Amino acid sequence: MSDRKMRDATLAELSDLLGDRLLTSAESCLDYAGDASPASGGRPLAVVEARTVEDVSAALKWASARQVPVSVRGAGTGLAGGACAYDGGLVISLAGMTAIREIDPADRIAVVEAGAITADIDRAAAEVGLMYAPDPASYATSTIGGNIATNAGGLRCVRYGVTRDSVAGLEVVLADGSVITTGGRTRKNTAGYDLTGVFVGSEGTLGVVTAAILRLVPRPVDEPLTFRASFPSMDALGGAVSGIMGSPVTPLVLEFMDAATIDMVESYRPAGLDRSSAGVLLGQLTGVDAEEQFAVVETAMVAAGARKVERASGERGEELLAARRLVTAAATARGPEYVCDVAVPPSRLAEMLEQVAAVAGRNGVPISVAGHAGDGNLHPSIALPDTSVETLDGAERISDEIAVAAIALGGTVTGEHGIGSLKLGLLARQLDEPTMAAHRRLKAAFDPLGILTPGRAV
Ligand code: LAC
Ligand code: ZN
Repeated sequence: MSDRKMRDATLAELSDLLGDRLLTSAESCLDYAGDASPASGGRPLAVVEARTVEDVSAALKWASARQVPVSVRGAGTGLAGGACAYDGGLVISLAGMTAIREIDPADRIAVVEAGAITADIDRAAAEVGLMYAPDPASYATSTIGGNIATNAGGLRCVRYGVTRDSVAGLEVVLADGSVITTGGRTRKNTAGYDLTGVFVGSEGTLGVVTAAILRLVPRPVDEPLTFRASFPSMDALGGAVSGIMGSPVTPLVLEFMDAATIDMVESYRPAGLDRSSAGVLLGQLTGVDAEEQFAVVETAMVAAGARKVERASGERGEELLAARRLVTAAATARGPEYVCDVAVPPSRLAEMLEQVAAVAGRNGVPISVAGHAGDGNLHPSIALPDTSVETLDGAERISDEIAVAAIALGGTVTGEHGIGSLKLGLLARQLDEPTMAAHRRLKAAFDPLGILTPGRAV
């Protein structure tokens, strides 16, 4: 049989199982090839638009039997190349599994399918006074399954923790097609290993998450108090973050933007940011004692050298914070960019910013930086003149230098976007060999044939 005939014959078997949920046309395959990163996707054999856990199970059984590499995709908003298709591989898309099955106020949980949009889950929770806390910058379009795969962070994570802290249980299809459940609906649960924690952040390498039980928290009822402060240097800004995080106050949000980011956002859509400053901190406080919290935060910022401190509530407050949410749109409007993601202990933010400036200087490229200050999580963004392979390779090398600097400061090569394919080589720089070996053993235990998102994440 020719290769093509063989391909058609094996796909026919899968098509019998999945019917119109199996797409094989070149256009469909192209639609599902990449994600939001500069990593390029391969040309898959076919795409499974899963509607049920049984669809996913059938697809994985088929892929196991033929040792076809599988990539898993939600909305394609990932920034590390983790969801890109493989040449000759199978794409499993969970984007059609959008059900929010249950919101339970007494147990403070939501039961959702993997393709539910994160902001939709939060909106459903809001109807009963609850909140799904993790709010990645992409949360209006990203799926919960993708958030779980990357252990995504977000603006409110400084207060409520990252995605892992909000996942109570999972339904997962293993490589051989068997379906397991982890965790549960209880608030406490010490039965067995913490498999939920193992799958969150595993980037499609250990199994395919099809549904999740999420923890919800009471939605703050009072309007948040929003503040914005400008600083004469990033050193002073870093000092303010240490002062705030070292105080008894935990802000709901604590974000920062440097001068280059401020310029970019102001050129895109003026937000009244101080263009003469080296950087701004933007934050929100909630609770009946928000005023007292603000007094503590203001004192810390002024002591660190804040030049101007503004505060606002209601719509005006949301406007102040909206400038931070505009960063990605402003950068995209400017042209191609390479977004990095590293995290350091919050007290070392200023040192890390210094390192980013040194990398920019050494390489003679402009790098703007914004990020989640309270989490010590930075997104240095490298503006690219074009998207040629050479330019992207160059950006990857610069991103690697930034990541290595983060490791030296006790940080991590990814705070919230994941390793994917773009950061693969960096994991071994962060982890020692015995720890890497433990990762490989776990991978082999769950995916002995190596068909699940091979060659990425670990
Ligand atoms: C953000 C994305 C890039 O924080 O993580 O804007
Ligand atoms: Zn971010």
